[in-house]
Amino acid sequence: MTLESAAYGFRDQVLLDQTLVVIGGSAGIGLATARLARGQGASVVLTGRDTERLRTAAKEADARGTAAFDAHDPLQLERFFQQLQGPIDHVMVTAGGPSYGRLLDMDAQQARRAISDHMVLALEVARHCAGTVRPGGTLLLLGGTGARRIRAALGAAPAVTAAMPAFTASLALELAPVRVNLIAAGFVDTPLSARLLGDALDARREELRATLPIGRVVVPEDVAALAVHIMTNTALTGATYDVDGGQQLVG
Ligand SMILES: NC(=O)c1ccc[n+]([C@@H]2O[C@H](COP(=O)([O-])OP(=O)(O)OC[C@H]3O[C@@H](n4cnc5c(N)ncnc54)[C@H](OP(=O)(O)O)[C@@H]3O)[C@@H](O)[C@H]2O)c1
Repeated sequence: MTLESAAYGFRDQVLLDQTLVVIGGSAGIGLATARLARGQGASVVLTGRDTERLRTAAKEADARGTAAFDAHDPLQLERFFQQLQGPIDHVMVTAGGPSYGRLLDMDAQQARRAISDHMVLALEVARHCAGTVRPGGTLLLLGGTGARRIRAALGAAPAVTAAMPAFTASLALELAPVRVNLIAAGFVDTPLSARLLGDALDARREELRATLPIGRVVVPEDVAALAVHIMTNTALTGATYDVDGGQQLVG
């Protein structure tokens, strides 16, 4: 068993002979999931924008293939899915990040992007999953728990956070028998969190260690373990799964 699978009690090779595509797999949650899936026997394909980061990640996750493109570009996304070889079992979307900032400071175009980017990316990927992902396989989306509580600085993020579970459930009905699920994460210690918090990162980690019921910070491997469980448990579809160490109960 790998360390990661041992920590979560997976039997070895639960994804043997399956293929996982991670849209946004060169860092953070996507890369951790790719590594765990590979350790469980899957072959993995990673995408991201930065070629160098993708190359390093591909080595780390022993990836079968990579593709560098901006997932928000529908034409490049279409081209990527068209050239994918063989049957696909699971697709995970970890590209893109949250959009913060006061709503009234946004012009119409910025508002459209803040409100729709996340869902439109999920929809575009879902379109390509139809007929590509095998029945019983999964489309796995990422959302958050942090913006469930509305605060002024969060702008469009609470509205998008509220919409994602319903959006996921609707996609699950339309894409069946492919399963569609949403993971809602709190703070996860990834390069994205480091970028968002800058110099305040260490203080935030300390605060979370002191206040979270689990007494530690959630790491990408925790989210990866949930993701692999959702891939392998064929009863799960149309649902949202929180992984935040209890953050929404105390924050
Ligand atoms: N970290 C958290 O605390 C947290 C909490 C809740 C939800 N989430 C969500 O979980 C997802 C993953 O977060 P993370 O923390 O793992 O982020 P991360 O560390 O920044 O990793 C994101 C990955 O996606 C790629 N990516 C980003 N934008 C892309 C685009 N437009 N096209 C293609 N690839 C793209 C990045 O590579 P390139 O930059 O090279 O493209 C990278 O491989 C995000 O949707 C995030 O909003 C994160």
